[in-house]
Amino acid sequence: MRSVPGVLLAVVIAGAACIRPHSEPRTPAVSALSPLEQLGKSVFFDRRLSLGGNQSCAACHAPQVGWTGDLPLVNAGPAVYEGSVSGLFGNRKPPTAAYAMAPVLHLTVEDGEVLFIGGNFWDGRATGERLGDPIAEQAQGPFVNPVEQALPDTGCVVRRVCAADYPVTFESQFPGSCDIAWPADVDGACTLPAGTLQMKAPDRAASNRAYDRIAAAIAAYERSREVNPFSSKFDRHLAGEAVLSPEEQAGLELFTGRGQCSACHQLDRGPDGEPPLLTDFTFDNLGIPRNPENPWYRAVSNPAGPRWVDEGLGAFLATRPDWRKFAAENIGKHKVPTLRNVARRPDSAFVKAYMHNGYFKTLSGLVHFYNTRDVKPACSGSPTEREALARECWPAPEVMANMNTDELGNLGLSQAEEHAIVAFMETLSDGYVPAARQQ
Ligand code: HEC
Ligand code: HEC
Repeated sequence: MRSVPGVLLAVVIAGAACIRPHSEPRTPAVSALSPLEQLGKSVFFDRRLSLGGNQSCAACHAPQVGWTGDLPLVNAGPAVYEGSVSGLFGNRKPPTAAYAMAPVLHLTVEDGEVLFIGGNFWDGRATGERLGDPIAEQAQGPFVNPVEQALPDTGCVVRRVCAADYPVTFESQFPGSCDIAWPADVDGACTLPAGTLQMKAPDRAASNRAYDRIAAAIAAYERSREVNPFSSKFDRHLAGEAVLSPEEQAGLELFTGRGQCSACHQLDRGPDGEPPLLTDFTFDNLGIPRNPENPWYRAVSNPAGPRWVDEGLGAFLATRPDWRKFAAENIGKHKVPTLRNVARRPDSAFVKAYMHNGYFKTLSGLVHFYNTRDVKPACSGSPTEREALARECWPAPEVMANMNTDELGNLGLSQAEEHAIVAFMETLSDGYVPAARQQ
């Protein structure tokens, strides 16, 4: 276990003294948002937009933990989150909803190899082809996903957003969007777990248009400075305003050097000089073990039961006639996530989960895996990360096909070097307060 570096500890204490002693703010500090971004924020944090009136996007994407799941006991085990309806779970770990501005999913050919780039979700299936924007398309999923916010019909989301008393109303941003003749029993129908609102074709079309606009508002918020402040120590360092500690600096050098991390978690600036997003939006199979604690293996809605395998991008491509021929070579691949805020948490004891299935609970265990996946013997059974570390072995990969053996698996890093890479990742948390300002 790493101890908390002194600088970070000082920030925590300074923060506790001058903000609120025990509670994290539920929403980030108010910043200058455009009216459209403000509308998107209201929608993002509105629990009424779920079947039980109990779940907003923030339930699985909470700012204080870097816009991912904020329940440490869930992260420590299953890592997948329960939806609005109790007992129903998704089958993947929520990735961060920040720094998620992926390009539209597309393919390129590099050195004779076909590479898919972009899209949202671990498997890129929110492609962005329809709305021209993956994060807008992604935002249309959760409200009507039975294992998430679980509303029976997209019209229910429109109905409730139109009626909401947000500081910036939907009508003010998109005049006329709420001129829809709803069925007489709309509000009752929207409290039922299934069913379709019966609407005339022009009203259905108007509701669909409004649903696209709601998604555009959420996407505007997810692109805003509030969600993507680029205010980490690393950003200060890039701007020449902060100096990394010797360990963090060594970690950065390993990240781009022998660790090869930046081959996928890119550190290049964007085309207009934007700070790096720490992803190249490609897909890879790292050979992550299955997470034995994922309740999906026992879910009634999962016909494969414990034999279920998450085939990632390949499974999505298989659903697309135009891309089906690339499915086999992409089985087991998941999107390279940003590493911004990967270490962000309310306190050092708070457990986060990493990778598409949340198998890893610590950054140190995860870096040790990159370093030694192909060096340690195979574990018998299906141990957790903690058990595997204690037994000095790694479980078999969830998917063997297409596993990347070029850039990871045997990096030859010492324990100190592994720790340095973790220390570098800890500089990627937003809200860095330079030491001079702490007094
Ligand atoms: C019950 C938990 C849950 C809720 C509620 C939820 N999400 Fe998610 N979110 C997830 C999971 C799990 C994934 C990954 C799913 C996958 O890849 O198949 C995800 C993926 C995402 C991504 C993709 C990030 C990327 O880089 O690809 C974004 C953005 C996102 N969610 C935003 C939202 C928004 C906006 C809402 C509300 C409309 C929302 N989420 C509601 C669990 C949730
Ligand atoms: C070949 C590309 C590649 C390289 C090299 C690589 N990564 Fe990754 N990284 C990925 C992919 C793909 C995932 C998601 C895999 C999954 O969930 O199945 C990931 C996930 C992660 C995560 C989990 C993030 C989250 O939100 O769950 C961390 C942390 C991480 N990588 C750190 C590193 C570090 C540190 C290195 C260098 C030692 C590194 N990566 C090298 C592709 C790569």
